[in-house]
Amino acid sequence: MPLLKIHRAAEFIELLRARLPERTFKHSLSVAQTMLGMAEQAGIDPGKAVTAGLLHDYCKDLDPTTLLERAEDYGIPITEAQRAHPSALIHGPLAAEEARRKLGVEDPEIHEAIYWHTTGKPGLGRLGQALYVADFCEPTRSKSQAAEARRILAEEGFEPALLYVTREKAAHVRAKGAAEPITEAFLEWVNAEFGS
Ligand SMILES: [Fe+2]
Ligand SMILES: [Fe+2]
Repeated sequence: MPLLKIHRAAEFIELLRARLPERTFKHSLSVAQTMLGMAEQAGIDPGKAVTAGLLHDYCKDLDPTTLLERAEDYGIPITEAQRAHPSALIHGPLAAEEARRKLGVEDPEIHEAIYWHTTGKPGLGRLGQALYVADFCEPTRSKSQAAEARRILAEEGFEPALLYVTREKAAHVRAKGAAEPITEAFLEWVNAEFGS
């Protein structure tokens, strides 16, 4: 199914084009397309998949101060790690909130998926899991780990791909010295739920 057949996709794409740097715009389209492609395999609704994929980095262009201020204005709870790294860790929660308040995207699954797309969280629903995987492996990502995730998705299926991506992301965050309780908790949950 083409992306533009999805309800409101054309409207969201124009919003993103006007707002995001070229690279993030292309990445957002690619995440949406990847989610649409994996909808059946992952067992998710194609419309929700595209909406979550398109809007997940809607606030990625904002500077750290604005991210923090707006998150506080909306009453989003802010952790110590988020305060230390607003660009990495607040753009998801803020995009979920702005999608709801400014664009009328009220679906709780989409909200959860966008909110937690950077770190994951224990108990994250299937749409959120799919966004977490697509964000990592969409084809404009050129790292070898992204290619490996695409291979696993194609050859072994969604859950092995989720396991791989979660382990890779946790290892990457640890290597940067930015280990974060929620990332570790998500890894533990994914291992318990889907690991063998
Ligand atoms: Fe993001
Ligand atoms: Fe992203």
